[in-house]
Amino acid sequence: MEKEVILSESEIKKQFDYMSQVKTLIGTGKKVYIRTFGCQQNEADSEKLLGMAETMGYTPTDKSGQADLILVNTCAVREHAELKALSISGEYKHCKADNPQLIIGICGCMVSQEHRVKDIKNRYPYVDFLLGTTLIHRFPEILFKTLTEKKRNFWVSPETSVIAENLPVSRVPGAVEAWVSVMYGCNNFCTYCIVPYVRGRERSRNPEDVIKEVDSLIKNGVKSITLLGQNVNSYKPLSKPGYGFPELLEDLCKLDGECVIGFMTSHPKDATAELVEVIAKHPPATGKVGISRRFHLPLQSGSDRILKAMNRHYTLEKYMSLVENIKRRIPGVSLTTDIIVGFPTETEEEFRQTLDAVRRVRYDNIYSFIYSKRKGTAAAAMEGQIDERVKGERLRRLIDLQSEISKENNVRLENLTVRGLIEGVSKTSPEKMTARTADGKLIHFTGNPEDAGKCGLFLIEKAESHELFGSLVKTEDI
Ligand code: 5AD
Ligand code: SF4
Repeated sequence: MEKEVILSESEIKKQFDYMSQVKTLIGTGKKVYIRTFGCQQNEADSEKLLGMAETMGYTPTDKSGQADLILVNTCAVREHAELKALSISGEYKHCKADNPQLIIGICGCMVSQEHRVKDIKNRYPYVDFLLGTTLIHRFPEILFKTLTEKKRNFWVSPETSVIAENLPVSRVPGAVEAWVSVMYGCNNFCTYCIVPYVRGRERSRNPEDVIKEVDSLIKNGVKSITLLGQNVNSYKPLSKPGYGFPELLEDLCKLDGECVIGFMTSHPKDATAELVEVIAKHPPATGKVGISRRFHLPLQSGSDRILKAMNRHYTLEKYMSLVENIKRRIPGVSLTTDIIVGFPTETEEEFRQTLDAVRRVRYDNIYSFIYSKRKGTAAAAMEGQIDERVKGERLRRLIDLQSEISKENNVRLENLTVRGLIEGVSKTSPEKMTARTADGKLIHFTGNPEDAGKCGLFLIEKAESHELFGSLVKTEDI
């Protein structure tokens, strides 16, 4: 198996050299537009791409028509996301007609698949470069080559298992939330999933690098940090044998300042009792670094036969005993999950087992997906693919059940006072503000935008399935 490599300082320096060369080449006033699809890992990658682009002299714009550099950061987890990214990329053709100097690059998981690369090479001649997820640290180099050699470049091999530290990251100034990757890639090969093929093998950052980054975010006023990895429970830095994710959480909780540390995603087969104990020991509290009470634990299916066919390595009962332990040890925990409906050969009875599991756990929220056939995965070749209509109908039933449960869970908070971190102005209704509880629930309230970043006590007046409405009783100045 390939060994992970922490990129040498000289490799990183090479990329910084490319950044200054591009900066000289493009002059001033150039703009970059980035469109991101998919998961938080992709959002975090986009922050890196943008950070490098800014160092090269580009200013971000939210109007693709004004850009001199357009980046599309794609997702490949489901077909729908791929088709959307392709159709959006198609629209940028017109921007190139208006501005022939425009450079269009496609990055992310979609372009680490051979058939998509071929497709884009042949059918999207106005796309100037493709850059796979495991190579994003070489973005300055591919951009420089594209600008100077006037030819298209396709760097897409998912094989390299490198970790690049100390690249610039563009984070929204003054934001109270941030993402920090702790590991990359996945070794699990769940049979439906494309991720191990497009993001390469698991590799973990050194704890010192993660701790340094988290520390500096906290010092800069960030109050909520989500640690990211395809399976954070298999965090295993080469530099420190025996050190795992629970140890990392423990060390982060020793930092000074006030912050809630969350994480995603956790594979149930690797979520240990030790992990649960560390979380139990460090609740979020005023003036401290603590661990979020939101626990995302993907179930995928409630049927043991389907779990086996998915290569998940746990049974429903094993999952349930983990859930019981989490609920017992972490009072007030908010459980969320991912579920796939319509995996090949799933019967009505097996789907009902999933509904029963959802009733047993009583999640606060579930992310439910219709199974999507991914070329090259084991499940794509399985017989017994389920009819689209049946899949759609199962999804509907699952969503309806969960809406009821979420609402019942939330209604219990009505007339109670809860603590939340004030995030800022609401993204959906600008006259309102939003706050988030330590277990991840969204509160809408009327308040002062200057309070963003403070913690407050909220009286919950009304609860819906996915949101709470309340009033701010008082803020806590830290
Ligand atoms: N089809 C549908 N959902 C999928 N997921 C991953 N691969 C597929 C697929 N082929 C879901 C899983 C995973 C989440 C991030 O996306 O539920 O946990
Ligand atoms: Fe995909 Fe499974 Fe890895 Fe998650 S653990 S990224 S579902 S292969």
